[in-house]
Amino acid sequence: MRFEDSRILIVGLGLIGGSLAAALRRAGVGDEPDIDAEMEKGTVEIGPIEVAEILGCDPDPDEIACGIAMGLIDRGDTRLAPLVEGATLIVLAVPVLAMRGVMAELAGCLHRAAADVVITDVGSTKAAIRDGAVAAFGGLPPNLVLGHPIAGSEKSGVAAANPRLFARHKVILTPDADTDPVALARVRALWETCDAEVLEMDVARHDQVLARTSHLPHLLAFSLVDTLARQDERLDIFRYAAGGFRDFTRIAGSDPVMWRDIFVANRDAVLAALDDFEAGVARLRRAIEAGDGDAMLATFDRASHARHYFDSLLNQTSYQAEYQMQQHGKLRYRVSPGGGVTGRIRVPGDKSISHRSIMLGALAEGDTDVKGFLEGEDSLATLQAFREMGVAIEGPHQGRVTIHGVGMHGLKAPSGPLYVGNAGTAMRLFSGLLAGQAFDTELTGDASLTKRPMGRVADPLRAMGAEIDTAEGGRPPLKIKGCRQLSGIDYAMPMASAQVKSCLLLAGLYAEGQTRVREPAPTRDHTERMLAGFGYDVQREGDTCWLQGGGKLTAGPIDVPSDISSATFFLVAAAITPGSDLVLEHVGINPTRIGAINILKQMGADLELTNQAEVGGEPVADLRIRYAPLHGIDIPADQVPLAIDEFPALFIAAANAEGVTRLRGAEELRVKESDRLQAMADGLSVLGVENQLLADGIDIVGRLEGQGGEGASLSSPNYSSPNYSGGHIDSLGDHRIAMAFTIAGLRAAEEIVIDDCANVATSFPGFIDLARRVGLTLEEQQEAS
Ligand code: S3P
Repeated sequence: MRFEDSRILIVGLGLIGGSLAAALRRAGVGDEPDIDAEMEKGTVEIGPIEVAEILGCDPDPDEIACGIAMGLIDRGDTRLAPLVEGATLIVLAVPVLAMRGVMAELAGCLHRAAADVVITDVGSTKAAIRDGAVAAFGGLPPNLVLGHPIAGSEKSGVAAANPRLFARHKVILTPDADTDPVALARVRALWETCDAEVLEMDVARHDQVLARTSHLPHLLAFSLVDTLARQDERLDIFRYAAGGFRDFTRIAGSDPVMWRDIFVANRDAVLAALDDFEAGVARLRRAIEAGDGDAMLATFDRASHARHYFDSLLNQTSYQAEYQMQQHGKLRYRVSPGGGVTGRIRVPGDKSISHRSIMLGALAEGDTDVKGFLEGEDSLATLQAFREMGVAIEGPHQGRVTIHGVGMHGLKAPSGPLYVGNAGTAMRLFSGLLAGQAFDTELTGDASLTKRPMGRVADPLRAMGAEIDTAEGGRPPLKIKGCRQLSGIDYAMPMASAQVKSCLLLAGLYAEGQTRVREPAPTRDHTERMLAGFGYDVQREGDTCWLQGGGKLTAGPIDVPSDISSATFFLVAAAITPGSDLVLEHVGINPTRIGAINILKQMGADLELTNQAEVGGEPVADLRIRYAPLHGIDIPADQVPLAIDEFPALFIAAANAEGVTRLRGAEELRVKESDRLQAMADGLSVLGVENQLLADGIDIVGRLEGQGGEGASLSSPNYSSPNYSGGHIDSLGDHRIAMAFTIAGLRAAEEIVIDDCANVATSFPGFIDLARRVGLTLEEQQEAS
């Protein structure tokens, strides 16, 4: 609905009321149309012109005069009655405790307002105002829509009015069952006109959430400043106070009357929040007394991650991208041409297994100790989401995490949407797991994830009885209703997807009966292995696996192997660079993940597996790779799902292999963090590597110059000869595209510059350091320069 109220009455011309008027003016509400210009355009007919009016009521005549002088209101009065005449929208913007009196006054003159008048308010607590409305109007009028813009400033008064105060801020509306939907839509339109994001929740939840996120921090800031100021009569220490004090206490400069009112009005919810806070401070106090550094670190570490998570939530980016953007702008890699690949390295833990370790650990009975956990953005998003659902998790500290499992039914409703950043695995696996919970949830992600298809999980989950809403085209966010009884399903997946399979198995844990999933080709089986490791019976026969709902998980230790997907960048780096000799330690070689090893070997790579062992149900090995000339191949169809994440790196191998490499049946690459077929084809073209893009694959025409340049012989290859040019590549924020073109630099003639690389931290923190350690030369810089 468009905002088209014609007489808006703002009662209370403080910062919020004044800023609302300013925002409406900025949006053109009440502007005199430029009649000459309009007539020239032919958009105005001659006749009476309806001009919206903004009126202001305030007990302070100076505020009214100021509002008029600033052009925010057309006229004002200290009394309500003369202004109510013909009003179509009345906004109550007085302090919370004044609300009751104002509503009583309004009740006495409301008959003068327009017949379809809508009333709303901006108070920071809602239960007290609702009770006041019931008393004043003798019940809650259907045309009263209670609301709360979450915006403010430590400044007060109409003089501080800011037309952008609500822009990109949230406004919470708290309608009840009897609220008139038309009135609700009109209040929504009011705030949307001010560029605010409008949400709805019930009154009690609003008051609890605000007690924790706004009222408690204000109380602490007031208290801290007051305590310090009293101890130091001459306020001497403030002279030495630095940024930390300023950041923490900024809100102690807010309007005292308003805040007194809020604490009176929201007493119970604030006291509950204060109890939790006091318990937390007491725990820290004990840790400090006892010199218990571990306990302090555990708290600070959790808090620090939570704070980064909060930033990323606000800006809908990955933590790293967010931090990077805040500090410097987008991250760019500059890779110098050439370099060697030698040494012995260990790449970080497996992303798929890390996600699952947190999920199953949280649902298990007992404590799960994880070693080798990937401290990348994606798996940290999963970890943080479980913290949001009340699971105590210690770490991560150097890959160690302890999850205090809450059992199959022990998760708690999170206080807001669960934001999973860039992580498709988190969103898809969560959707299954959350469909079985007793509470509603919403899953959101960053810009890349928001474009990815979720119908592939939502559709079969709905067939199991789940209630899930998606945005248009089956995209995130996902809104999942709790308390649905799921029933088992016999599902033949239309695509080979481990995420879909895992999602359904996780939902199956909560379903009545058996959940069976058939895969068109083998996909990674970490979920099945880990479930079995936690004592859950999962069966497999041929292409189908199944489990029975209603069982339980028993915690056990998890040793996460190094991620073969990360290792592949270095396997390819060594495979294409004459003279290289590299060992990658402790890499996961689960048969459902070794497509890249098989493909590289088939292309002629000199790759050896040593120290093979099994850790926690997953096979591992050290991989030794030395340079050997590669040749192009037709990639076998059965290897495609087993190497699905490795193709960006494998395409670089193909560009350095003699002849053509052909890939088919890989349309899934189009719906990864980017359209990887397109992104790689574009990047290869920039480097001058001939390729032909197809709907489901690509042909890459490679070169093997390393042994052919002038003066080279088989025993003395010409190491320096490049296979393609340098150039400027856009990674599209896709971590694997960025890393693939980084290793391409080893055989490039000139520098390769790669844009938008911060998301490398989603799967491979420390990539740059390892790349330098083995012999690449590269720099990170901000894109702006
Ligand atoms: C993953 C499965 C694969 C893979 C992704 C991780 C998993 O996705 O690409 O990086 O952990 O289950 P699909 O299931 O979409 O193939």
